[in-house]
Amino acid sequence: MKSEGFPVPRHIAIIMDGNGRWARRKGLPRIKGHDAAESSIHDCVELCGEIGVEYLTLYAFSTENWSRPRAEVSFIMKLLSRFIRSNIQELDDKNVKLRVTGRISDIPRGPRGDLMDAMEKTGGNTGLNLVLALSYGGRAELRDCFVKIAERVRKGELEPDEITEDTIAGELYNPDIPDPELIIRTSGEQRLSNFLMWESAYSEFYFTPVLWPDFNREELEKALGEYGSRGRRFGGLSD
Ligand code: IPE
Ligand code: IPE
Ligand code: MG
Repeated sequence: MKSEGFPVPRHIAIIMDGNGRWARRKGLPRIKGHDAAESSIHDCVELCGEIGVEYLTLYAFSTENWSRPRAEVSFIMKLLSRFIRSNIQELDDKNVKLRVTGRISDIPRGPRGDLMDAMEKTGGNTGLNLVLALSYGGRAELRDCFVKIAERVRKGELEPDEITEDTIAGELYNPDIPDPELIIRTSGEQRLSNFLMWESAYSEFYFTPVLWPDFNREELEKALGEYGSRGRRFGGLSD
């Protein structure tokens, strides 16, 4: 699919990093940076919907983020509830389907309930799939996947040498979602931080020093422009 001259990825995944530094630079407490993240999410959802991106995965909370101070974790969980409650109507109006990836059972009951309600409400929508990665870890996802495969082997449904790459891909959290063509990380860090380990095998990476609360429509357009200029070869030869 083409839009304004660049190819549009089916799936964009974003590591939304730099909220704490954004707040610190303004002399504010870290949590104000998380608060300010909402408008960036808004911009990305809007643009992705407009240009026909099918899946937008947002890394919102990692399995490692549970090790942050209790007050910050609790603030983020409350923010999650607030974000869902205040945006669900607009997301639904925009035909967005809300989904999640990660160990959702780890999420406290309040925000988990809001998530479930929002997923039910938007379940029939056919526009952008907005996938929130919550208590998500790439290693946790692979571990959980291997447990499911081991269980099938134990039951005699599968022989070990019948396990293919497709078997593994089929037991990930959301087997129907295609691998992301483009992974964006804000804040200048250039690492995966346990994001989509299996799914990112052939993703293009776009790193920007812009902190997440400052990432807007224009920044996403820049990332898409850069993505469009890359040659993807998948191990073969370029033409
Ligand atoms: C990203 O911003 C949000 C989460 C990981 C929840 P950070 O909170 O990591 O901000 P920095 O990296 O400390 O600036
Ligand atoms: C990655 O950011 C996780 C999310 C954006 C949710 P972190 O700030 O947790 O990653 P590290 O600690 O810099 O690797
Ligand atoms: Mg960070």
